[in-house]
Amino acid sequence: MATSRKKLFIKTYGCQMNVYDSGRMADVLAPLGYEPAEEAEGADMVILNTCHIREKASEKVYSELGRLRLQQQEKAAAGERMIIAVAGCVAQAEGAEIMARAPHVDMVFGPQTYHQLPEMVTRAVRGAGGVINTDFPVESKFDLLPGEGATPQGPSAFVSVQEGCDKFCTFCVVPYTRGAEYSRSAAQILEETRRMVANGTVEITLLGQNVNAYHGEGPDGRTWGLGRLIRELAEIDGLRRIRYTTSHPRDMDDDLISAHGQVPQLMPFVHLPVQSGSDRILAAMNRKHTADDYRRIVDKLRDARPGLALSSDFIVGFPGETAEDFAATLRLITDVTYASAYSFKYSARPGTPAAAMAEGRLTEDDKSARLEAVQNLLAEQQRAFNAGLLGTVQEVLFDRRGKLPGQLLGRSPYMQSVHAAAPDRLLGQVVPVRVTAVSASSLGGEVVTTESVHGEAQQGAGGRPSFISPDIKANHQEMTA
Ligand code: 5AD
Ligand code: SF4
Repeated sequence: MATSRKKLFIKTYGCQMNVYDSGRMADVLAPLGYEPAEEAEGADMVILNTCHIREKASEKVYSELGRLRLQQQEKAAAGERMIIAVAGCVAQAEGAEIMARAPHVDMVFGPQTYHQLPEMVTRAVRGAGGVINTDFPVESKFDLLPGEGATPQGPSAFVSVQEGCDKFCTFCVVPYTRGAEYSRSAAQILEETRRMVANGTVEITLLGQNVNAYHGEGPDGRTWGLGRLIRELAEIDGLRRIRYTTSHPRDMDDDLISAHGQVPQLMPFVHLPVQSGSDRILAAMNRKHTADDYRRIVDKLRDARPGLALSSDFIVGFPGETAEDFAATLRLITDVTYASAYSFKYSARPGTPAAAMAEGRLTEDDKSARLEAVQNLLAEQQRAFNAGLLGTVQEVLFDRRGKLPGQLLGRSPYMQSVHAAAPDRLLGQVVPVRVTAVSASSLGGEVVTTESVHGEAQQGAGGRPSFISPDIKANHQEMTA
């Protein structure tokens, strides 16, 4: 089929699942002649892949749509068309409302429908009114998306293994926007991973809104949990690192915990959201575990894998949260000690049970004060964790070039950004790096050469930093669970 070349710009908001989905949308549209563009200006199609998790995230979409309208008009003045689409969770939650608020939008489609994109694009191009698709189709998009030829993601790649959530935490929109829990088959995941590794990927992050609830069909016809899947993935030659996100404490089963002690490729870093340290608030959130249950899980993980580092998500100012409840959250943070973490002010989301809890709502000022206190404590823990690595040698996967010439950027086992002077040939490799400088959010280091391992060339903690940039922040991440 003859296709003319067209430019596609996808702007991704929110979680890594959206990053993964955006990549797959690009795959689906490539046969129609759409090639990735760096910016919206001049593009033939712009897709906003949106996030609905908190109010701020949703509102950003409307301001972006306002800006895009001007660019669409400019293109129209030149006799060309810019198709504007809203995808992701805002699309799922607000559907037709988006077209009513922003009539220049051509397509609105939810996260379960992007395998139907070619058909939707054809309808939109014909221009017979806006296309809205927020179905949860019976067929799985994973069975229908292209596999072969999917765009290589580079040294570190995402693999979606699970989607949706049946937990219904009372604050969260995910069960409504992403639908019921669904696990891909292990065979599909193994196949996709093998293909990625053959294309140069050395690290995969298994993705799911509730990734450790994974219960996919194994090639042996049995249901596999995440631990089993990870053990099998670890058999793939050339795959150096395995991560997974985001987990729910209730699904942290013994097999997954023991995998942390037995599978060397499984990185010693787990993102395990707890949301609150107060049993009363955890119950109101419908988390179905206590703060002590969480402490016990953390202990088991650290018994299985000494030195394992943790991150988490916290919500402050959930309706009814008292000063005592909040103090319990600070206590839990102090007890667990995190390498990094995310914290948010509670944001009422339409349609969720917590949004209807009128009692004990906190003022913005109170929420802000609590957020500041939590963030100060977490920042202090992150600084201490980073400082503890000074002078040590860490394995770093270099996955991109740095801002300075001759510099590469990568990730430590604990997800910190690490920068070091290193030649391009080390891109895509896991390399020992001695940490010579630490900042609040990143590390600087020096590549440990064979000579310096055997000789004494390497500097210890007192060495000068090769380079340190305070503005490199860990990728913000928004996955739930
Ligand atoms: N308000 C504030 N934070 C929220 N999160 C999810 N829903 C809300 C909400 N309504 C946070 C949780 C979750 C993270 C991705 O976003 O901490 O783990
Ligand atoms: Fe599900 Fe996580 Fe949302 Fe809870 S916070 S409903 S576990 S996605």
